[in-house]
Amino acid sequence: MSISLQGKVAVVTGGATGIGAATAQKLCELGASVAVLDRNEAAAQATVSGLQNAGHTASFHQCDVAIEADVKRAIDAALQKYKALHVLVSNAGIQRYGDVVSTSSKTWDETFDVHVKGAFYATKYAIPAMVAAGGGAIVMVASAQSFTAVANSAAYISAKHALVGMPRSIALDFARRNIRANCVCPGSIDTPMLRWTADRTGSPEKLLETLGKMHPLGRIGRPEEVANAIAFLASDWASFITGTTLTVDGGLLVPTGGMGFQESGIGTEAAK
Ligand SMILES: NC(=O)c1ccc[n+]([C@@H]2O[C@H](COP(=O)([O-])OP(=O)(O)OC[C@H]3O[C@@H](n4cnc5c(N)ncnc54)[C@H](O)[C@@H]3O)[C@@H](O)[C@H]2O)c1
Repeated sequence: MSISLQGKVAVVTGGATGIGAATAQKLCELGASVAVLDRNEAAAQATVSGLQNAGHTASFHQCDVAIEADVKRAIDAALQKYKALHVLVSNAGIQRYGDVVSTSSKTWDETFDVHVKGAFYATKYAIPAMVAAGGGAIVMVASAQSFTAVANSAAYISAKHALVGMPRSIALDFARRNIRANCVCPGSIDTPMLRWTADRTGSPEKLLETLGKMHPLGRIGRPEEVANAIAFLASDWASFITGTTLTVDGGLLVPTGGMGFQESGIGTEAAK
């Protein structure tokens, strides 16, 4: 059996750019019809036009995932168009910086509203349609920072930790309805979000190079490398996988003490 999503309908939140856009493309290539939900109309229209021009079935549905009525309306519109829903990729996200003292309540709420409530609303309105279709697959995009922390990112890290729990809960509650729910946890991936972070440092290329060195594979990841993992979890190839997390991080979480420690003399190639 080769991997296929032929005849499936997928919703991808945050599908305008980065990991979401690469996922929309990959799901289309595997045969799915894809509804892109995003608040960035210009970028989402461009992504969807590109998919349509390549002969794929895709549509854009304007949506701020932090607003329940928006999510309901957009998923209803996708259902109206495609008559079914089998796959949800909950991917929309924003990056915000600050420790718990410097982070305002507004920023905290904004971060949780997009990442956590956004995933809650998307699943809340997608699952009944999946039940009606006889089953489905949910993939949430969390982060390597769902298990670890970097400095000055309290709201983002807390939200990403929360996202690892949600698919576990869904996996249990809807297993008997043939719905699977899993999480992918990317390391540093070359997307507009990472470039935005890099630009804040004043020397973006240096930051990207440093990030690359932190990953044992020696580089940051590409959006399509995360999209491949998402497509796998969304497909029947993952038919016995639910409630779990898949890190897509070039080995980032593996080395004790980080790569600096590995290269300090104890863990070097030369010490073998
Ligand atoms: N790039 C990385 O290094 C990295 C690492 C780990 C996890 N992630 C996660 O991957 C996901 C995708 O991020 P990306 O790196 O592709 O960034 P990105 O900025 O390219 O994509 C994020 C998308 O989400 C959309 N979005 C943001 N807020 C929204 C809202 N309220 N409603 C609807 N759409 C909204 C944006 O318009 C954009 O299209 C995010 O959840 C991010 O936290 C990224």
